[in-house]
Amino acid sequence: MTTSPLAADAALSFTHRFEPALRPGAAPLLLLHGTGGDENDLLPLGRALSPDAALLSPRGKVLEGGMPRFFRRLSEGVFDHQDVKRRANELADFIGEARAKYTLPAPVAVGFSNGANIAAAILLLRPEVLAGAVLLRAMVPLEQEPAAGLSGTPVLILTGAMDPIVPAGNATALARMLEGSGAHVEHVTVPAGHGLTQSDLVKAKAWIGALPVAR
Ligand code: MLT
Repeated sequence: MTTSPLAADAALSFTHRFEPALRPGAAPLLLLHGTGGDENDLLPLGRALSPDAALLSPRGKVLEGGMPRFFRRLSEGVFDHQDVKRRANELADFIGEARAKYTLPAPVAVGFSNGANIAAAILLLRPEVLAGAVLLRAMVPLEQEPAAGLSGTPVLILTGAMDPIVPAGNATALARMLEGSGAHVEHVTVPAGHGLTQSDLVKAKAWIGALPVAR
């Protein structure tokens, strides 16, 4: 059987889609969808943000009323912290598997909402796994501050000024937590709610374009 690079691939530990790089040099993007999304959701966003990059897009394994997520929550904004840890480690392991299978350098995560929160948890718990991250509408994912380990990892947090789900103070606390762990954080508030806008796209694209060449 021939496998299309665009096909959903269940052979690794997460169902996912992979699109190879169109030219070498751009960091691969790890695309992490929001609640109710899947592995197809963010491929167009990834292609718009970094036209030449390899794209790796897993589907969250947790189901909430049939909607895929990356970890369990008790209610909106109230997380099951044990599950966050378990799932962040599981996803970090998948990234290692996918890097070996597709011969990729460490990816830059682009996560939206629940996907941004699991990306933040991976940064804090497994700091060696990601080369950077764009966190779109992210919140603090963990109870206690993990030890430093993100030596200069670049992180862009884009917060919506009118976001009804992410309180401004919570996004600021996440920025401080990541900085405290050694990340180089840029935190920008855009005139938006929880949904993404053109401003997010413009800012994220410019930020990704300025990253060093991937090895
Ligand atoms: C989460 O559960 O990760 C956040 O509340 C965002 C969401 O998915 O609604």
